Amino acid sequence: MASEKVETLSAAQWFKENSEIAGFDNPGKSTFTSVRELVENSLDACDDDIQLLQMRGEEIEYPNINIVIHPVSHERIRQKILANLDEGGSGSVLEGIEDFEIEHDPSEKYYVIEVGDNGPGIYHDLVSLVFGTVFTGTKYGIKQGRGRFGMGAKMAMIHAQKTTGLDTEIWSATRDIPEESYFRIKIDLKSNSPIYSTQKIIPDNPWHGLRMRLYLGGNLIWAKQRILEYFKQMSLVTPYVNFRLVIGDEKYLFKRVTDEIPPLPIETKPHPHGIDIEELKEMTKRYPRKFVIKNEKNEGFPTLAEFLHIDFQGIGEGTAKKFLRYKVDIDPNMLLNELNEAHIFKLSQAMSTYDDFPAPDSSCLSILPHESLEQAANVLLEPEYINSVTGKIIAIKGHPVHITTSVAFGGNIPTGATLYRFANRIPLLFKERSDVCYKALEEANIKRYIDVNVHGVTVIVSVVSTRIPYQDAAKDFIADYDELRETIKLSMQKAFRGIKTYISRKEAEKKKEKELEKLKDHADRLAISLAKITKGIPMSESEIQHKLMKIIEREYI
Ligand SMILES: Nc1ncnc2c1ncn2[C@@H]1O[C@H](COP(=O)(O)OP(=O)(O)O)[C@@H](O)[C@H]1O
Ligand SMILES: [Mg+2]
Repeated sequence: MASEKVETLSAAQWFKENSEIAGFDNPGKSTFTSVRELVENSLDACDDDIQLLQMRGEEIEYPNINIVIHPVSHERIRQKILANLDEGGSGSVLEGIEDFEIEHDPSEKYYVIEVGDNGPGIYHDLVSLVFGTVFTGTKYGIKQGRGRFGMGAKMAMIHAQKTTGLDTEIWSATRDIPEESYFRIKIDLKSNSPIYSTQKIIPDNPWHGLRMRLYLGGNLIWAKQRILEYFKQMSLVTPYVNFRLVIGDEKYLFKRVTDEIPPLPIETKPHPHGIDIEELKEMTKRYPRKFVIKNEKNEGFPTLAEFLHIDFQGIGEGTAKKFLRYKVDIDPNMLLNELNEAHIFKLSQAMSTYDDFPAPDSSCLSILPHESLEQAANVLLEPEYINSVTGKIIAIKGHPVHITTSVAFGGNIPTGATLYRFANRIPLLFKERSDVCYKALEEANIKRYIDVNVHGVTVIVSVVSTRIPYQDAAKDFIADYDELRETIKLSMQKAFRGIKTYISRKEAEKKKEKELEKLKDHADRLAISLAKITKGIPMSESEIQHKLMKIIEREYI
């Protein structure tokens, strides 16, 4: 044992070995995941951009996201690799995607994938930092977002490296600096750090945003329909975005259908129920800090009560004092720098179990208004009727979780029930049966409300949270928490009841119409007979008919 070599695995290396954890299970899924990770990054960035412009009172730009999936031959990829080697990494040749001839033979499974947006871009100095190291990103705060772990883009880059060995190309431009940064970058797996063969600044560029290009092995035969479905569903919950998708020589446009931008998520303070010992320690390390408090001898350290009030959401000083005195049994006036490990342990235990803190704040979430979703659903699904319901807001591990269920019914929806699942506005397409929404749908017992052998129904469930309880890093499905399943089930049942009422009303109207038809028919015949008997005196046939109709309208409509 003593002679064995001890090695440390870097995060990049570990994820290369275990890439299925992040959704890179096989060539098809890897193609899909690469596209989705880049698109979701663009959406997060564009949302941030809109928010910033709104805050500054400037006119917003609607997001335009362009996606190109370009099948190329193995030979062409080989040439590119050789050219790269010849260049010795100088990267002097800048090829456009159109320089790569489209490969129509589906057995050749190499692709150039490019995703570009008109978002804020990233400053030159930050590019290699956020794209060169697994577990770096700007989304670690407590905010509803699509990315979460600081690894999506890097996983796609590592997949590209694994399958073609080629660099990822990145173009970035920000609004305030009129230049473009261009990078050719790889991740050194051993050290989990960037290696770039090129980085240059091109002056005088009028655009802003980010464009990323990967060269990778994959499988479009498997991925294509899923990618199309992804964009269809994505445009349902992101109806303020234009998605232009090119796959080989096929073009698709998922057009923006609304000018309405939903209220975008805002960063919030942590809730005491969502904090563990390490996080609590980290938070205490942010002091000493200059700030205005009553105690002048604090040297930048707040009292414990002040700390809880300042650094956590929803804790007033009164609540903090009560909690510290009676639940934790610590003096609320103790200064933060006097806390020892034992205090921190006691405090953290008490925080996670104290029931009198207010529920996590959901005003920081971005919830798509019913009207926007229904507007998009009308365009994409063409139903006869939609009913939307807002579920109860619940809390999971100190994070607010909000549920909206929309049920689209009839029209062009094929017979049967289909489930669309969304988590923080991302369509979830895989492992449906493991998802909490699927289980809720089973329990909701749709057949009690709607005969799905006769009618077509699409059940759309959108879950948003500052921390979606995904089962794993692949973000394929939401974990099955009892309270979450129950809440989704109830919102589904409420929405189904709305549809049931609609169907009953429609059927009642139909029945009435039929009865009316019958009555009118009788009235016609009665008028003829009466006119015959009375020989048209004092009323003619048409007068009798007119009078009878008036009576029917008065009595029956
Ligand atoms: N299109 C983009 N525009 C601006 N910034 C981006 C874009 N794509 C990625 N980024 C930045 O790169 C970081 C890393 O992205 P990624 O590896 O996918 O991790 P995550 O999305 O989980 O943070 C993001 O946090 C973001 O700051
Ligand atoms: Mg990401």
